[in-house]
Amino acid sequence: MLPSFSPTASASATPPPRPIPGSYGPPVLGPLRDRLDYFWFQSQDDFFRRRAAANRSTVFRTNIPPTFPFFVGVDPRVVAVVDAASFTALFDPSLVDKRDILIGPYNPGAGFTGGTRVGVYLDTEEPEHARVKTFAMDLLHRCARTWAADFRANVDAMLDAVEADLLGGSASASYVLPLQQCIFRFLCKSFVGADPRADALVDRFGFTILDLWLALQILPTQKVGLLQPLEELLIHSFPLPSFLVWPGYRLLYRFVEQQGADAVAYAEEEHGIAKKDAINNLLFVLGFNAFGGFSVFLPFLVAKVGEAGDPTGLRPRLREEVRAALATRGADAEFGFADVRAMPLVRSTVYEMLRMQPPVPLQFGRARKDFVLRSHGAAAFQVSKGEVLCGYQPLAMRDPEVFDRPEEFVAERFLGDDGAALLQYLYWSNGPETAQPAPGNKQCAAKEVVVDTACMLLAELFRRYDDFEVEGTSFTKLVKRQPEPSLAAAAAAAAQPQTAQ
Ligand code: HEM
Repeated sequence: MLPSFSPTASASATPPPRPIPGSYGPPVLGPLRDRLDYFWFQSQDDFFRRRAAANRSTVFRTNIPPTFPFFVGVDPRVVAVVDAASFTALFDPSLVDKRDILIGPYNPGAGFTGGTRVGVYLDTEEPEHARVKTFAMDLLHRCARTWAADFRANVDAMLDAVEADLLGGSASASYVLPLQQCIFRFLCKSFVGADPRADALVDRFGFTILDLWLALQILPTQKVGLLQPLEELLIHSFPLPSFLVWPGYRLLYRFVEQQGADAVAYAEEEHGIAKKDAINNLLFVLGFNAFGGFSVFLPFLVAKVGEAGDPTGLRPRLREEVRAALATRGADAEFGFADVRAMPLVRSTVYEMLRMQPPVPLQFGRARKDFVLRSHGAAAFQVSKGEVLCGYQPLAMRDPEVFDRPEEFVAERFLGDDGAALLQYLYWSNGPETAQPAPGNKQCAAKEVVVDTACMLLAELFRRYDDFEVEGTSFTKLVKRQPEPSLAAAAAAAAQPQTAQ
């Protein structure tokens, strides 16, 4: 049986709300201590777990980096929410303002986006948000017909490259760069209608430019794992400058302007978005949301499914499901999203990966008004207008009040009616999996297509290979598909010389 939560906020709560536990510590020292814990002495998970345990509460006060000394005007004080019930306040546009708060109190600034405040930084109460979000959703709708085929073509090119590397004698073949190239090419072509092969520089360096552009924006908030204290001094002490990536950004801007002219005209003519803002928004969705999101998520997925030894025997079951669903198509036939939607275990595996390792782990929102934040049971907390909520998805989606064996990867978790009932607690898209993105909310515009695309990658791997293994970000084994025994026997029989009667 699933727990049912009371609403996450109410004007008057019974029993009365308690003050939010936790402290920000003394000025300068408190934020500095939390920053060092976050980046140096603890993992991100530990950081939130320890504070929740110390405060005996899944809602508590803490500082979140970056802070001190050169992040001028960045207030690190947040209210952390790490359970499945209180987290949902972050999805309610009537409670939280999402203005300029995508990656937290620190905003890298419009220097990274050609001077445009792009849609992801806009709040639902800003009219421009609905305009830009509708444009993104319409564009996704327009490219739905070619998305799956473009993706598969690029996945095949990637796997050809990795296979050649591995069969050429290497003990392992890294898929990081081929996968990034694959994601970049397919997104440019599908989403923006711009084929990178039309521009040699973009084709060769496009994804590296995006990597650098992303890194300069998010590194002040990320643990890298460099030698300390170098990391603290060089990466986490001041905003990283956008001008380092301007030449690369201009190259991509011109590429979208020329090769993606149809999408840009669509934004101008159908959605009333000025050309410069259309291109900057396209580049942001392409580079940050889509390329960034897939570059983080797909390697998690491939590495988990390809785990050496396959401790839970998942791969043979996935392979059987994929082969059965494609049985009528023949080994090399085209297939699309309709086919992968008939693969429930593949889909449940993708959902479980999104639960265990959400690619965008943190969500932020600023309280629009005083309100009572409700957690499980009778727990209720008073939030004041202007306070920043910081939701940490990895803990909220391992909430033992909702999920059995919450720390375990259970590929079948989302199968059947009970599994479907759990989807309301899957929050990776900045909203429940059972809700839909809309101009009036901040849920990922590509919520459906992200899951379908990830399913497609697994389906393509099992269509091509009988088995594979992965260590870290490298394939260590690829067993090419053998003909099915019955087909092999038929082929062998057909090859026998015919004997005359
Ligand atoms: C694995 C891939 C992806 C992940 C994990 C992901 C995740 C997210 C998340 C968490 C948000 C909400 C950010 C926030 O406000 O806190 C978001 C927003 C958004 N995503 Fe995705 N996304 C992915 C792929 C894509 C793709 C492929 C597209 C489009 C091609 C896309 C388009 C958008 C847009 C337009 C928004 C802004 C929504 C708004 O401002 O209302 N995303 N995404």
